[in-house]
Amino acid sequence: TEQDTSAYNRPLIHLTPNVGWMNDPNGLFYDKKTSLWHAYYQYNPNDTIWGEPLYWGHSSSKDLTHWEEHQVAIGPQNDDEGIFSGSIVIDHNNTSGFFDESIDKDQRVVAIYTNSTPKTQTQDIAYSLDGGETFTKYDKNPVIDVNSTQFRDPKVFWHGDTDQWIMVVLKSQEYKIQIFGSRDLKTWDLHSNFTSGYLGNQYECPGLIKIPIENTNEFKWVMFLAINPGSPNGGSTNQYFIGDFDGFEFKQDDSVTRFMDAGKDFYAFQTFSDNEKDVVGLAWASNWQYANVVPTNPWRSSMSLARKYTLDYVHQNAETKILTLIQTPILNNLNVTDKVEKSNHLLTKNNTIITDFGSSTGLLDFNTTFKVLQGSGSNSSPKLEILIHSQASNSSTESIKLGFDTSVSAFYFNRDIPKVEFNSNPYFTNKFSTYVEPAHYFENDIPVYKIYGIVDKNIIELYFNDGTQTMTNTFFMSEGNYPHQIEIGSNVDGQFELQSLLVRELNK
Ligand code: FRU
Repeated sequence: TEQDTSAYNRPLIHLTPNVGWMNDPNGLFYDKKTSLWHAYYQYNPNDTIWGEPLYWGHSSSKDLTHWEEHQVAIGPQNDDEGIFSGSIVIDHNNTSGFFDESIDKDQRVVAIYTNSTPKTQTQDIAYSLDGGETFTKYDKNPVIDVNSTQFRDPKVFWHGDTDQWIMVVLKSQEYKIQIFGSRDLKTWDLHSNFTSGYLGNQYECPGLIKIPIENTNEFKWVMFLAINPGSPNGGSTNQYFIGDFDGFEFKQDDSVTRFMDAGKDFYAFQTFSDNEKDVVGLAWASNWQYANVVPTNPWRSSMSLARKYTLDYVHQNAETKILTLIQTPILNNLNVTDKVEKSNHLLTKNNTIITDFGSSTGLLDFNTTFKVLQGSGSNSSPKLEILIHSQASNSSTESIKLGFDTSVSAFYFNRDIPKVEFNSNPYFTNKFSTYVEPAHYFENDIPVYKIYGIVDKNIIELYFNDGTQTMTNTFFMSEGNYPHQIEIGSNVDGQFELQSLLVRELNK
């Protein structure tokens, strides 16, 4: 019936389902035996809107950049029920008793998820004997039932210091992150409750993990929490809290609410289990305010790129540094089909840098470090501007814009493309901005900033100052159009010096 929009707005390296609806990432894990990354997700194969019966869809990747879809992994008992969000652990020591010696220790896959019915939300478990392809539900489910309809999204991990499994799960509308412990994944004891941050309408999709502090041997525990609706940006957002965890209680170091991303399409973040090397996670790149109506077909939604997570002390202003998540996009095995490079390039009004890429994949990235000099002239709002144009020419060219405005020391982004009817949706906010302190100062107090951006058909992820701040947004160009050309300019002469610039056209 409706036209397939894949050719112009399906991302190439951001995970999308071939057909159907997708929301939260679930059960993310790394299989050490096969070196495969597995991603499950909230999935409705029957429609491109959220609806029940709701399943766990499944994809996997060798490199976190190229994804392949598998069969649906877990489904509900009845059509008015859903297998809601949850996680996967590898039960190396067979604490659950679901496995025998024939199953490799690194493939003892147990899923812990919310079984949602019209009457209750309970925490249930299922195990896989084929490396996560198919699952058998535990015959004594549920493993936690507190007689609630708003009790969901378990994220489980092994806590070595106290020899137990830990689950963080929500009493969603009581604003409680509940911390449970278990020896066998089947019997769970409530240890404590944790409440913090923005409440919004309800808590969703918590997470708790140890994250290293850069250039030290130290780490901190980070609690992740999604809220929806009620984001200051509107709709859905992810916040995080930094502290310590002793196996029973999470104690926040300060009373600060930190947001993960300054854009509107980064929700229900989850980390991968069983990759001991780095902390890696990804989020659903949409927002409940408009996820069900975005103009894509025959699928809806993508994930963010997988990102690596560390902590570092970052200037919040000139006087104070605070511990902050550092996010680094993970990109592997991409072909560079064309590129433009510059160094020590002073931007002027009449001379923009514009790429002239021959092919048009819709997948581009750019990386620049720039100095903000005194400049000349009297513009009250001097800007460095990066325009991302569609491949169409002249009057029909569509563009999204971002840049840096010296008058407010902020980065801005604008995804408005007026020709596309959907973009007038009142919740599909067009304009965003974020303030960051300079990455560092060049001699004579000259501020230096960095931007890395990756554009993939209908999504742009921006990483400011090496990932101390990110901004993730989807965007929608009109039929047939997708990003092709990048133009970098300024409305003033001599204020912005690109110390380095690399723009690439990529292909997968
Ligand atoms: C978050 C969420 C979860 C729930 C799932 C249902 O986006 O509402 O709380 O488990 O989606 O699909």
